[in-house]
Amino acid sequence: MNSFNSSLKNAVLRARERRARDGASGTGSAQNAGMDDAGPDPLRAYWHPVSWAGDLGPAPRATTLLDEPLVLWRDATGSPRCFRDICLHRGTALSLGTVDGGCLVCPYHGWAYDDSGACTLMPQLPAGARIPSRARATSYRCTEANGIVWVALEDPVAPVPVFPEWDDPGYRHVPCAPYTWATSAPRMVENFTDFGHLGWLHDGLLGTKDALEVPPHHVEQTGVELHYEITMEVPNTNDRFAVTDVSGNRGLQTNTYVLTLPHTILLRCTYHDTGAHRTLFFAAQPESAKRSTGFCYQSRDFGLDEPDAPYAEFQELLAEQDRVVIESQRPEELPIDLAAELQLPFDRVAIAYRRGLASIGINA
Ligand code: FES
Ligand SMILES: [Fe+2]
Repeated sequence: MNSFNSSLKNAVLRARERRARDGASGTGSAQNAGMDDAGPDPLRAYWHPVSWAGDLGPAPRATTLLDEPLVLWRDATGSPRCFRDICLHRGTALSLGTVDGGCLVCPYHGWAYDDSGACTLMPQLPAGARIPSRARATSYRCTEANGIVWVALEDPVAPVPVFPEWDDPGYRHVPCAPYTWATSAPRMVENFTDFGHLGWLHDGLLGTKDALEVPPHHVEQTGVELHYEITMEVPNTNDRFAVTDVSGNRGLQTNTYVLTLPHTILLRCTYHDTGAHRTLFFAAQPESAKRSTGFCYQSRDFGLDEPDAPYAEFQELLAEQDRVVIESQRPEELPIDLAAELQLPFDRVAIAYRRGLASIGINA
């Protein structure tokens, strides 16, 4: 085990011990949230995408992460904020409330919570009466990166996944409609990286049925990242979607992947004809064990003056072809036990992904 892997493992173990200690001490609902019979959920200590940054304004909005109801909004400085979407008083959804004077105000009785989560106003109390210190909203870590809002429910053990092209002025980024599927986030991610289905399910789009053999490839894990690369033929779809930089009927492209555990993929395609690049950045939000939302960018360093719509439409068409199949998979959770499904040599990325999830403490 290299030193990065070993320090990651130590960070995961420390976070696990801390969560177990906090849960055992019963210091509050937030600490106990995410606990089940199997112990604390290690996913709580990772950053997860929860919204396109451009979709989040000062008005509160609801979402769900790992079964935790959340409320998101932007404070007066423009920074994203996140609380548990439950008012301590009567369990009301704070996302139905308003933001006033820098506080999130509950819609039911008007209690106001400041940025730290402390209740600063209970309109029903007589003037000068003390507000109980227990009257707090649970605040979660929230940040913005790569045009996406991310939340971690515990101290994160790894940074937000990187997307270097995001800051590269030579690229044009097309955010695709976030898609919500009735499946787990790992099933969604694994589909994104499954080579064997490209020419079959996406015949004529990402491959063809007459060239299904998966080229040789090799997977390496470094810390929370899996790295692998594959060179494959792709059909020219420019007459319909203008998303490839291929001149003939087919072109050769090299796909270089960075899969950041648990649920993010950066795919860089290089077209051999021209040397141009297309990237896909995909991050999945695990709303619950059986419901997930994917955030995906189609980015390119060619055709910068072309309209963006065909790029988003192409991704939506592929996603819809995938959705029907992936939502049919049982169980919805990705089996981490390799013996639970049939693994063949061309499934080595799926095998590495399942082992990678196991390495960060995910058991099912
Ligand atoms: S339920 Fe929120 S203030 Fe009463
Ligand atoms: Fe697919």
